[in-house]
Amino acid sequence: MKDRFRGRDFLTLMDFTRDEIYHILETAIDLKRKWTRREPHELLRGRTLAALFEKKSTRTRVSFQAACAHLGAQSFYLRPDEMQLGRGEPIKDTARTLDRYCDGLFIRTFGQEIVEEFAHYMKQPVINALTDLTHPCQGLADMMTIIEKKGRLEGLKLAYVGDIWNVCHTLMVCGSNMGFDVSVAHPVGYDPSPRIMEYVTNMAKKNKVNITLTQDLKEALTDADVVYANTFHSMGGPEKTKEQRIIDFAPYQINETTIAYAKDDAIFMHCLPGYRGEEMTDGVVEGPQSVVFDQAENRMHTEKAVLALFIP
Ligand code: CP
Ligand code: NVA
Repeated sequence: MKDRFRGRDFLTLMDFTRDEIYHILETAIDLKRKWTRREPHELLRGRTLAALFEKKSTRTRVSFQAACAHLGAQSFYLRPDEMQLGRGEPIKDTARTLDRYCDGLFIRTFGQEIVEEFAHYMKQPVINALTDLTHPCQGLADMMTIIEKKGRLEGLKLAYVGDIWNVCHTLMVCGSNMGFDVSVAHPVGYDPSPRIMEYVTNMAKKNKVNITLTQDLKEALTDADVVYANTFHSMGGPEKTKEQRIIDFAPYQINETTIAYAKDDAIFMHCLPGYRGEEMTDGVVEGPQSVVFDQAENRMHTEKAVLALFIP
């Protein structure tokens, strides 16, 4: 199985089968065990990775660069405004140049078509570190965390509130492929991408899972094993202003009252960064159900697995 990944791009979880995703997660669990025991795991000694971030990041950037260091690889952080890309050099020229120096690229940017263009022009793997459409590295860490806390994915129900954007898309992709229900509560006027919904609808039917969108927060949260919150105003979010979004999404806050609609043993997750008083209260994110920092830590272990499996 592990040879199926070497040299491939990691652009969206829609490109991988359930078995392949389980293999990545098992690799991450094994690497976490090694890291916890301080066992060396320099599987990419001497390799070089380019890290191009066109949006802000705390978790993704640091976890990726730490993962590279643990694996014995060097990563180069590239600010677009300091590169010729920022002065109009075409992506295709930048991509083919980076390809000559580096064994792979992890990139955070706006449109999915940008990571696809890099991937088209690079022979070495391109890893999506967040686009407007998807956040596949987040999805892996979320699933690893759910497995750690709940022992499985299949048959669970995840309820999501927050922007209908990359993380929401990714969780629906994960549920429909990996066999857990996802119920999204959202205000009218905020809808998921048709490209994502086409995949999700087909996979949900095939795998007999329920991926539902509702305006009713209580309905979404009822019987949930996982309550997942995300900001109401994403980076690069389209059309409506931050102020308008906060007003529109206000009825969808996870607080001490609304989290009680979920199962008593439900866990609270958030990709972070989070905004107390908007999508969640301080009491919930600091409360006993919250696993948000285990989730943040697992970003590093899952990204390490992607690097170890995909980089030639
Ligand atoms: N969850 C996440 O991607 O966090 P950063 O934006 O800090 O990388
Ligand atoms: N939806 C958020 C995710 C941040 C990790 C954003 O894109 O801003």
